[in-house]
Amino acid sequence: MNWQLVADAEAVAAEAVQQILTCAGESIARHGSFSLVLAGGGTPARAYRLLAEQDQDWRSWQFYFGDERCLPVDHPQRNSVMAAQNLFRHIPVKETRVHVIPAEAGAEVAAAAYAREIEPVLPFDLVLLGLGEDGHTASLFPGQKHPQDKTVVAVHHAPKPPPDRVSLNYNTLASAGKRLFLVSGKGKADAVRQWRQGEDIPAARLPDSDVLVDKAAWSE
Ligand code: 6PG
Repeated sequence: MNWQLVADAEAVAAEAVQQILTCAGESIARHGSFSLVLAGGGTPARAYRLLAEQDQDWRSWQFYFGDERCLPVDHPQRNSVMAAQNLFRHIPVKETRVHVIPAEAGAEVAAAAYAREIEPVLPFDLVLLGLGEDGHTASLFPGQKHPQDKTVVAVHHAPKPPPDRVSLNYNTLASAGKRLFLVSGKGKADAVRQWRQGEDIPAARLPDSDVLVDKAAWSE
């Protein structure tokens, strides 16, 4: 793991944007496009707002989601709605370049459909990830097993509401060129401590990740 300790939530967001832009430039130079997987939850919102202020040729970018909650498509707790509010409403990007998980269709149907959509474009260039207080990431929760041969999985009984979700699987996240975690706030200190002590939390199952963590979440 590459732990990068920064001052606070604003520094996590600012440094995340710099690393996203660096990765985008390298990917576009190397193969003409940049596939970015967005994290859900609340932490990345500030990074998305800062990213939206950047002057980029968005036509080379393809946006995907690491997970989605099984809620109506315009529900305020959807990760796709958070991304639209903080990023897509503020940049000129065609809807065809924003690959939303159709989680409103139900977890199994959406997981199968999203797998068909992403498998031709794997591996992703960059995956953004959050860290849950229990060590989950995307919608991969402690104690929940998933078939290793599936790229996208249906999730039920998630301990973080809503219970039904869709998530990229460990193998899909691990195959990406780069993984960047955004971790902020004292609520994550226990999970960071478990991670650093080598405990088997879902986030720790993704090798060679970069982790932006602020002082409130860092535990000496
Ligand atoms: C979700 C997210 C989830 C999130 C973490 C951290 O749909 O809930 O994908 O994995 O990243 O729970 O959430 P916060 O950033 O809100 O603390």
